[in-house]
Amino acid sequence: MKAIRIHAHGGPEVLQLDEIPVPVPGPGQALVRIEAAGLNFIDIYNRTGLYKVQLPYVPGQEGAGVVTAVGPDVAGVATGDRVVYTGVPGAYAELAAVPVDRLVPLPAGVTFRQAAAVLLQGITAQYLATSTYRLAAGEACLVHAAAGGLGLLLCQIAKRLGARVIGTVSTEAKAELARAAGADEVILYTQQDFEAEVKRLTGDAGLQVVYDSVGKTTFDKSLNCLARRGMLVLCGQSSGPVPPLDPQVLNQKGSLYLTRPTLAHYTATREELLARAGEVLGWVADGSLAVRIGREYPLAEAAEAQRALAGRETTGKVLLLP
Ligand SMILES: NC(=O)c1ccc[n+]([C@@H]2O[C@H](COP(=O)([O-])OP(=O)(O)OC[C@H]3O[C@@H](n4cnc5c(N)ncnc54)[C@H](OP(=O)(O)O)[C@@H]3O)[C@@H](O)[C@H]2O)c1
Repeated sequence: MKAIRIHAHGGPEVLQLDEIPVPVPGPGQALVRIEAAGLNFIDIYNRTGLYKVQLPYVPGQEGAGVVTAVGPDVAGVATGDRVVYTGVPGAYAELAAVPVDRLVPLPAGVTFRQAAAVLLQGITAQYLATSTYRLAAGEACLVHAAAGGLGLLLCQIAKRLGARVIGTVSTEAKAELARAAGADEVILYTQQDFEAEVKRLTGDAGLQVVYDSVGKTTFDKSLNCLARRGMLVLCGQSSGPVPPLDPQVLNQKGSLYLTRPTLAHYTATREELLARAGEVLGWVADGSLAVRIGREYPLAEAAEAQRALAGRETTGKVLLLP
């Protein structure tokens, strides 16, 4: 089968199309024919070595497709099932062997493309807005990179919880998308000082929560945007990692909370995975959560797809089609 592999950490050029043997599903695993794979920023961290992985490595943490075989001791999953999964590497490939306790059944009415576009970032947006900091009606939040894959979903979910949503984006075209996803106000953080804008928009009161997936370039000002006892949810680092922090800063800036959540810890049990995924896929099925697929690339063009994502060219989700 065809798969993208990296044999050394580096730039997009290390993503190489290889011919490798079809994986054999082991005990507790199913073989999935991947119809669509989701691209995520974590794939870039895995490629560059910011998050170390064992080489050679097939990237891709998210796929949707059809079960074509099951390993020994597998119950409850059968050949022909439509499934989607996240948190298991290897989706940049035609086929992947996936532990069945990570497979989520795909509801009728949700396509493979929609599922691969929404599972990882949709569950993330769901847990950030309902569990990491449970947004209540009337509270104000800031969503950085609001027109990105995670951002557009988080704006919509925050809005459905009744929050006031302020988004940041780099261009006017992205601002329009963020507004359409429910952002009440959008700041062009490449042209405006977002801290000053947040203070102006909130009458100096500040925000209950900032969802900061950008990291290095936004972190300090994100802290300054919070109301007393507000929470900074550092959920990514698309601009680079945040340097070490003196905890005294949290005291000085208003008894703030800081957390650095990750998806794995909010989907650690099968029960929690199915509950969150079920809610997100249900919203897609009933049309109340819009999934924007900004770009699709053939598997062989994974390098170009990652270059575009890292280069801030994309909006919504980027898919690879094996
Ligand atoms: N913690 C978790 O569980 C979890 C789960 C999923 C994703 N994440 C994180 O969420 C973030 C977004 O992921 P995504 O896959 O949805 O990507 P994305 O938001 O679609 O793309 C990243 C966006 O970040 C913004 N950005 C700002 N500075 C940047 C820079 N120097 N380089 C590149 N991009 C920059 C860009 O938007 P503008 O052009 O508008 O600035 C860019 O489009 C990532 O940091 C990812 O690690 C975390």
